Amino acid sequence: MIKSKSKTLVAIYALIMLLFLVDGYNCKIVQFIFGDSLSDVGNNNYLSKSLARANLPWYGIDFDNGLPNGRFSNGRTVADIIGDSMGLPRPPAFLDPNLNEDLVLKNGVNYASGGGGILNETGSFFVQRLSLYKQIELFQGTQVLIRAKIGDTEADKFFQEARYVVALGSNDFINNYLMPIYSDSWTYNDNSFIQYMMGIFREQLILLHGLGARQLMVFGLGPMGCIPLQRVLSSSGDCQDRTNKLALSFNQASTQLLDDLSSTLPNASFRFGDAYDVVNDLITNPNKYGFSNSDSPCCSFGKIRPALTCVPASILCKDRSKYVFWDEYHPSDSANQLIATELIKKFGFKPVNETESPSPAPSMAPSADGN
Ligand SMILES: *[C@@H]1O[C@H](CO)[C@@H](O)[C@H](O)[C@H]1NC(C)=O
Ligand SMILES: *[C@@H]1O[C@H](CO)[C@@H](O)[C@H](O)[C@H]1NC(C)=O
Ligand SMILES: *[C@@H]1O[C@H](CO)[C@@H](O)[C@H](O)[C@H]1NC(C)=O
Repeated sequence: MIKSKSKTLVAIYALIMLLFLVDGYNCKIVQFIFGDSLSDVGNNNYLSKSLARANLPWYGIDFDNGLPNGRFSNGRTVADIIGDSMGLPRPPAFLDPNLNEDLVLKNGVNYASGGGGILNETGSFFVQRLSLYKQIELFQGTQVLIRAKIGDTEADKFFQEARYVVALGSNDFINNYLMPIYSDSWTYNDNSFIQYMMGIFREQLILLHGLGARQLMVFGLGPMGCIPLQRVLSSSGDCQDRTNKLALSFNQASTQLLDDLSSTLPNASFRFGDAYDVVNDLITNPNKYGFSNSDSPCCSFGKIRPALTCVPASILCKDRSKYVFWDEYHPSDSANQLIATELIKKFGFKPVNETESPSPAPSMAPSADGN
């Protein structure tokens, strides 16, 4: 009796173990983020020769312990805020020496790098930065490690269920096409340059799809002709009209590209969203949104502008929450909140419930037909 009972127990136990093994790693839904300084969470701090680093005060002053953390802002990035709202963990920087397979499975990876662009040649002025192709190459390396760790079947599932963010493009204009030191500036005109970028961008997004990306968001460009750095280029201090028009053309072309890819690549929900109009309105009518300044950086090197970045000797504005721009290039935490809210509305996604992992019903996924 006792013997057969324990036999039964052993059998049940074995069955449970087997089910557990078959179910494998219970992979969570995580994010993989590709981008530039607007999404960098520390990669450039590990590129010792990079001229684009947010490793000095007063970067990060409104984030956690207030020390610089690699974000080019006083607080959170737009991707931080959107990920939080979806209930997803914030992925660590790829170059963080603590990153290992367990952390990738738990939190995903952020490959974003200040100065990086869609084009390889963009941002060469910064000496070191990870362009989008490079970031994708690093992601391929991550995949090899994860496949070795959990096997192909589980890895396929893990990478297909993950959420992808791709947010680049402004450096391709500001730190390439619009700068006469770059050959792209005399090789192309406004239209042909955007065509050229879209050809490359299409290949990159198809490459990501081939690596498993199914649910992917592309963040568009804001009115980048109104960043403080662009305003100082004109004697009047006005926004650069041509630069803003380029951002609008990029957004328009990207919308088409993403619609096209979403309807042709199998199972792809690739979406484009931008906050151009809202940010433009914010810049024109800051008071309407509770801001007081929309044309100069909160962290500023006084009259000797444009300083490349915010530095320890800079003077800070009194109320950081009322400035649209944190430095010459980048929005403040409070502006990022506004941008993120707009993007969330555009993408129309629902939060991912972590407790319901590992097998979210398809109905929980951001709806492909969405608003
Ligand atoms: C861009 O860089 C990647 C490596 O990061 C390389 O494989 C690719 O050939 C480059 N493309 C061009 C057009 O130079
Ligand atoms: C698309 O989804 C279906 C159903 O989940 C699956 O059987 C198929 O393998 C997927 N195809 C690709 C290319 O992901
Ligand atoms: C997600 O969780 C929240 C509370 O934690 C719950 O109210 C909501 O219904 C859940 N959503 C789904 C789709 O299960």
